[in-house]
Amino acid sequence: MQKIIQSLIVAFVLNISINSQSIVNYTNSALPLEDRVEAILKELTLKEKVMMCHAVAKFSSGGVPRLGIPELTMDDGPHGVRAEVLRDSWNAAGWNNDSCTVMPALTCLAATWNTDLAKLYGNVIGNEARWRNKSIMLGPGVNIYRIPLNGRNFEYMGEDPYLASRMVVPYIQGVQEKGVASCVKHYMANNQEYMRGSINVEMDDRALYEIYLPAFKAAIIEANALSIMCAYNKFRGSYCSENDFLQNQILKKDWGFKGVVISDWGAVHSPKSAINGMDIEMGSHPSKYSDYYLADTFYLALKKEDIPMSVVDDKVRRILRVILQTALKENRQWGAFTTTEHFAASRKIAQEGIVLLKNEKAILPIDTKKVKTIAVIGENADRKMSLGGGSAELKAKYEISPLQGIINAAGSSVKVTYIPGYATRRNTNAQNAVALAKKSDMVIFVGGLNHDYLEDCEGGDRLSMDLLWGQNDLIDQIMSVNSNTVVVLISGNAVAMPWLNKVPAVLQAWYAGSEAGNALADVLFGKVNPSGKLPFTFPAKLSDCPAIAKGAYPGNDTNVIYKEGIYVGYRYYDTYKVNPLFCFGYGLSYTQFEYSNIILSKPLIKTSDTLIVSFTIKNTGALMGGEVAQLYIKDVLSSLDRPEKELKAFTKVFLNAGESKNISMKISKEALSYYSTTKKGWFAEPGDFEVMIGASSKDIRLKAAFILQ
Ligand code: GLC
Repeated sequence: MQKIIQSLIVAFVLNISINSQSIVNYTNSALPLEDRVEAILKELTLKEKVMMCHAVAKFSSGGVPRLGIPELTMDDGPHGVRAEVLRDSWNAAGWNNDSCTVMPALTCLAATWNTDLAKLYGNVIGNEARWRNKSIMLGPGVNIYRIPLNGRNFEYMGEDPYLASRMVVPYIQGVQEKGVASCVKHYMANNQEYMRGSINVEMDDRALYEIYLPAFKAAIIEANALSIMCAYNKFRGSYCSENDFLQNQILKKDWGFKGVVISDWGAVHSPKSAINGMDIEMGSHPSKYSDYYLADTFYLALKKEDIPMSVVDDKVRRILRVILQTALKENRQWGAFTTTEHFAASRKIAQEGIVLLKNEKAILPIDTKKVKTIAVIGENADRKMSLGGGSAELKAKYEISPLQGIINAAGSSVKVTYIPGYATRRNTNAQNAVALAKKSDMVIFVGGLNHDYLEDCEGGDRLSMDLLWGQNDLIDQIMSVNSNTVVVLISGNAVAMPWLNKVPAVLQAWYAGSEAGNALADVLFGKVNPSGKLPFTFPAKLSDCPAIAKGAYPGNDTNVIYKEGIYVGYRYYDTYKVNPLFCFGYGLSYTQFEYSNIILSKPLIKTSDTLIVSFTIKNTGALMGGEVAQLYIKDVLSSLDRPEKELKAFTKVFLNAGESKNISMKISKEALSYYSTTKKGWFAEPGDFEVMIGASSKDIRLKAAFILQ
């Protein structure tokens, strides 16, 4: 017996020393990453390699306990770290310490047009994910806003590929510098929820390269995103999860992606995924994890050499690269959770994302010397918005409602009274609300959409742009008794506003997170001067939307063909002279800005040159304010059709009253190029160009012409 115990101890010690030897090899960050990856790879059995390529729990893929390689833990979502669920179900784990900081929805972040805030946003997500021991955060989403009905538009960054590209890069850098991987999603062409699990998307190459790929490309090449999530839908005939063109050709070959492709949950439909670029199969179907296509099926195919070992080794290398830069990253900082800094960041982003759409008779900011009684009306004034909406839902540490924010800011000198006036899915007594409006000095109506199904919610698209539950009638009735009214819209999508001409002030306030109410009140009471600009167009009517106008949505249950091509959003409205309700890039301020003195570094440039566009912005009003100057390019004469204008640069400046600032923006040939389907590449066609500087896509303040040789 003695001998057996002794030999067991020797074997145990030896085993540790072998492992510690390999462990020493791969956790020594002094060694190049690839060396550490190889040091592990050669230790792994085939079973262990395959285990790493599929889910072993609801939100993690397999690790290798024998070698101290942890599971890859993941979680939603783009706006914060989701509440913990049980290991193998969607049921809440019932933790009492997983209530997070809720950040504003990504449409709100995009509306700030502030890349510094995108970085700050990513830092908060990275900190909170690290604290929750998540190695991968399943976000951000950058699917282009193609129709104003998509239930998940609130999770994305609007209609323009350049704005989405500029905002997604710092977000991802912010997350990943905290030792957490981003997982940019949903790759790609998931621009509707209707039939998302099966619909096949068709589009031409110009739409693909000029509109729908750029934000993903920026995330991968500029931000070095460590992972990317495939979309549920098909693209050009095959599921994104097994799409060789998207995953092997574009992503891994053209873009040189070295990270991990993760499937959306249940998006893998056949063993083809294994050879067509899928690296980790995640899922929610009830079957055993060993039944997944990248599990036993994959193992057997490798064993029988139907699939070469190089295929699984490539996947494992990618997975190990992510693990070594996250869970096994040396000196990985501990993260932080629901700190005052995080809530302050959430409030700041919400403040800067709120868009002032209308403000006549200087209704805003509210003058509490004159306004002594405020009626707050509308269910959205008191409705929690971090709950619901699908996988982006969050369990908030707290969420300040618009009503609470208004009460907080109004102080004791102003009496605030709340009556819902309308409610989702049930009738309420609107007359009480109208009566309250009538006797109040001011009315703040808070309406819009919510995260109920077929509103702003995953898994379905809205059926119209209309506000629901009698909001429009209620607004009309309120206006008939009190014209001193502000309408605050909370939504992630454009809505119809039949009452717009009657209402003197309108704000687009988004789903703005834990500090939503305080940020809204900061703007309403003038503590903050609004500086947000719309990241997508509000069309005058749904049938004006190009995809709708061309009968190209929602498709015929099998295919949806993007007949509008590159003419998405303002690219369509401006080119085809369709006037929107509110245009892309639009947003007012409590002050005014004057643009002057545009100067080009050269009137004639070669394709190798960089053109410098300079101009002056002056705050000609009485209040400090932020302004987003937007630079659009027009190819005056080109051999193929191009949009009236395309956003190619922007900058946000904050100026004190009376202050001026000289701005310079650089334009390279990329900004002048289109994707040539004949050349199979980007091409800047010599000829006349026009550069436009706008306070919005339609409010062009300065123009200048130049020639590309
Ligand atoms: C969902 C979503 C995806 C999410 C995943 C995990 O179906 O499409 O965005 O990250 O499943 O919840």
